Amino acid sequence: PEKSVVEPLVAAVVQATNSSRFLVFNSKTAEPLTHHQVELTQEFPKEGWVEQDPKEIIQCTYECMERTCEKLNELNIDLSNIKAIGVCNQRETTLIWDKLTGEPLYNAVAWLDLRAQATVEKLSKQIPGNNNFVKSKTGLPLSTYFSAVKLRWILDNVQAVQTAVEEGRGLFGTIDSWLIWNLTGGVNGGVHCTDVTNASRTMLFNIHSLEWDKELCDFFEIPMNILPKVCSSSEIYGKMKVGALEGIPISGCLGDQSAALVGQMCFQEGQAKNTYGTGCFLLCNTGRKCVFSDHGLLTTVAYKLGRNKPVCYALEGSVAIAGAVIRWLRDNLGIIETSEEIETLAKEAGTSYGCYFIPAFSGLYAPYWDPSARGIICGLTQFTNKSHIAFAALEAVCFQTREILDAMNRDCGIPLSHLQVDGKMTNNKILMQLQADILHIPVIKPTMPETTALGVAMAAGAAEGVDVWSLKPEDLSTVVMERIEPRVEAIESENRYATWKKATMKSKGWVT
Ligand code: G3P
Repeated sequence: PEKSVVEPLVAAVVQATNSSRFLVFNSKTAEPLTHHQVELTQEFPKEGWVEQDPKEIIQCTYECMERTCEKLNELNIDLSNIKAIGVCNQRETTLIWDKLTGEPLYNAVAWLDLRAQATVEKLSKQIPGNNNFVKSKTGLPLSTYFSAVKLRWILDNVQAVQTAVEEGRGLFGTIDSWLIWNLTGGVNGGVHCTDVTNASRTMLFNIHSLEWDKELCDFFEIPMNILPKVCSSSEIYGKMKVGALEGIPISGCLGDQSAALVGQMCFQEGQAKNTYGTGCFLLCNTGRKCVFSDHGLLTTVAYKLGRNKPVCYALEGSVAIAGAVIRWLRDNLGIIETSEEIETLAKEAGTSYGCYFIPAFSGLYAPYWDPSARGIICGLTQFTNKSHIAFAALEAVCFQTREILDAMNRDCGIPLSHLQVDGKMTNNKILMQLQADILHIPVIKPTMPETTALGVAMAAGAAEGVDVWSLKPEDLSTVVMERIEPRVEAIESENRYATWKKATMKSKGWVT
């Protein structure tokens, strides 16, 4: 049969910590047409270590692309309607591969991984000049979270990497670079690049000059010839060289949190969003200004949507564990079989009955930055059961958001009047109500939940030479939102929050 004629389509690779996804959007309506998703393995080889298999990551991306193309065929839509592809990804996760063989030289060291703590401690004693050396250039505190120290650890401990780097065969990349290099041909001319948002999470990138910083590379002893070329978030990096989508330009690249900011249309200074994924990340657009936090937030590149477009910055509150606590209840405790079941289980209790859960599995990120914190569940009695623990896990996500929102309000001076949210967990109605109650401001959620994918599809579709997606304010389709109002008295939220803080103090400084 004749293929149907459709508006130009734009596709998005979403490579999160937990899953690979491939989605196809109609560029005129900003609605997703179809998608495919595969859950990813995470490996925990030692206490505090988190790794992922780079080959699984790329294979799952191929699988998602293939299955989505099959679904488009079933919908009678010709693949030639896809005009561009964007890539967005879990940030900071670090890997090195051999450019001659295409083989990874070590597993990807995930953003949550704590193994570089000794490296961080050693380096913090060697910071030249003032203590602000790293933060003033990168916007980031010296922490295991960011790529530079993971890379230092790999270079110090993996012989195959050392040799490959010495012989000029080793390439470093965050997940975006790995994907784009493979999709554009790998050993046969793959493009080794990243975008400014991903680069800004490596701790090697100067967020003012928008270049790799020689002084930082010297400080971390990272050879600059292994780093990818830094590009804007919206330009043609190269063309697909594999599979049914061969020839389509890859023209959008954003760290997943930046992608969500774009997808939620937070283009104005002061607009913010919170995404609930493996972790939880609240980003507030600060426009062309680099705002430095006094309350434990990061300064990061929000986006640069074109080679000649201005860069915009964001303040970010990062929480390490959000959805990951649900996965932990499923995989490690087995109290639920699917992530969705958490809602039913929490509903059975309707309260945590004084149980508090601090999921500091990878230490505590913002606003504490305490790598020595570890998870605790406290306030238990003989009455406590698994449904109370499930409820406390959901509350933990909301309390952690409250902590970063408070920090954001203090740094910005003007409190947020509502919180724009997205991410898979926002399907959980109990979580959303708890969030509104604990923040005591309305929570606003787009009815189209795929905002991260939408953001990078917009970046890809708007690139020069593609030009199928207009980012002019008047052309941006208005996002339809659902509003969740707080239902409890402020005093009740404050009391619960105060107890949460008390419990948090107990989780701090656990590892000595
Ligand atoms: O900084 C890490 C972040 O990008 C991970 O995102 O979606 O896997 O929680 P996600």
